[in-house]
Amino acid sequence: MTKSRIAAVDVGNDSVKAIFGELERELNIPNIIARDTEDRPVIGIEDLDSKDPLDGIHIRVHSPSLKENNVIYRVGNLATKSINATELDPGSSKSEEDQTLIMLFATLALDAVNSDFPRNKNIIDASYILGTGLPLREVKEGKDAGYRSKLLGSVHQVEFLVTPKYQGMKVNIKFDEVKVYPEGFAAFINLVMDNSLKIINKDLIDKRILIQDIGGLSTDIAVIKNRNVDDDKAQGFNLGVSESLEQIREEIRKKHGVELDSRRDVVEIITKKNDRNHIMVKGSRTSVHDITDRILLDLAKKQYRLLRNVWAKNSQTEICYFVGGGSIILKEYIKNINNSLDGYNIDFFEDEKESIWMMANAYYKLIKDFIRKTEKQNTVKDKAPVKS
Ligand SMILES: Nc1ncnc2c1ncn2[C@@H]1O[C@H](COP(=O)(O)OP(=O)(O)OP(=O)(O)O)[C@@H](O)[C@H]1O
Ligand SMILES: [Mg+2]
Repeated sequence: MTKSRIAAVDVGNDSVKAIFGELERELNIPNIIARDTEDRPVIGIEDLDSKDPLDGIHIRVHSPSLKENNVIYRVGNLATKSINATELDPGSSKSEEDQTLIMLFATLALDAVNSDFPRNKNIIDASYILGTGLPLREVKEGKDAGYRSKLLGSVHQVEFLVTPKYQGMKVNIKFDEVKVYPEGFAAFINLVMDNSLKIINKDLIDKRILIQDIGGLSTDIAVIKNRNVDDDKAQGFNLGVSESLEQIREEIRKKHGVELDSRRDVVEIITKKNDRNHIMVKGSRTSVHDITDRILLDLAKKQYRLLRNVWAKNSQTEICYFVGGGSIILKEYIKNINNSLDGYNIDFFEDEKESIWMMANAYYKLIKDFIRKTEKQNTVKDKAPVKS
């Protein structure tokens, strides 16, 4: 039997975050796919082998778990430029969308081609122990079981088509184990425990806390009590930062005639250390502070309203942590609003990466712990006296 590799994967609406093996690899891929045909035109004098494979993910995916099998997709950066690109719709269920599986399989395949799985010519047989998650809402509806069995039940194949370095490779993915955790609970685990699941935050573990995760398309507020998520109290909202970033991009285009490539560029402008909220217009340094301030303040107010509502229903809450990429963007605005209004006990993460990788880190800790426990059980079994 081949040895399985650990994968902790957070399929976020905005991007996939994945951690592999003994922490030796991480991948971050925008969650965006577009249908394509067999031979994507290679533009100009594009030299396939000198390019980054992550900028040219072009795959065919075979899996009985997909609603539409054997379809060819552009994934991530390559899909951004397509007119028919699809991002997840806020109302949809992660566990039931082909897009979630396509992103997951593509991410694993990109790891597999660089790992030491058995290979036969261009075919790689990869097996994983997967830790992943679903929004609390879907776990509450019991959709985690169906999602897990879809993954466990068959072999899934990713075939690289016109992708730099990997063209022609086929990766067969099978799962030895899949654990699906609720997202809010995972964030809590990450806050209170280290990589060996030792408690690192004694103060926090028995407190009543809220975790407000501001993502690309959605915001989830988990309610933690007695070291567990309170399923009935947790809430999900279809409000993220993507729309506001898009709006900022549009207003910069209208007012200054400057076309920014993507939402990522907007994030860069509003978070960079030097010359924040400035762009170059025809070679002159120009402030866009008026635009960013108005739009982000507006979103921060909406986020604050969500906090207020949830706090009102959980009056004995002691602290609320803001996580997710959206919290980085809105941090100063939310702090200011809070200072001039209710003065709740709230906190943010200094380290941007920690905020964004929260879920993936948590899944990693949880799946490691699961493996440790199973290994322990097996050793006990091995040592049991054998009847003769
Ligand atoms: N380093 C960063 N600094 C600031 N903002 C960032 C950074 N990375 C990502 N963002 C922005 O934060 C937003 C949310 O990112 P995040 O990764 O938390 O979302 P997600 O988990 O993929 O989405 P969801 O939680 O809705 O499923 C994105 O719109 C992204 O542009
Ligand atoms: Mg998220």
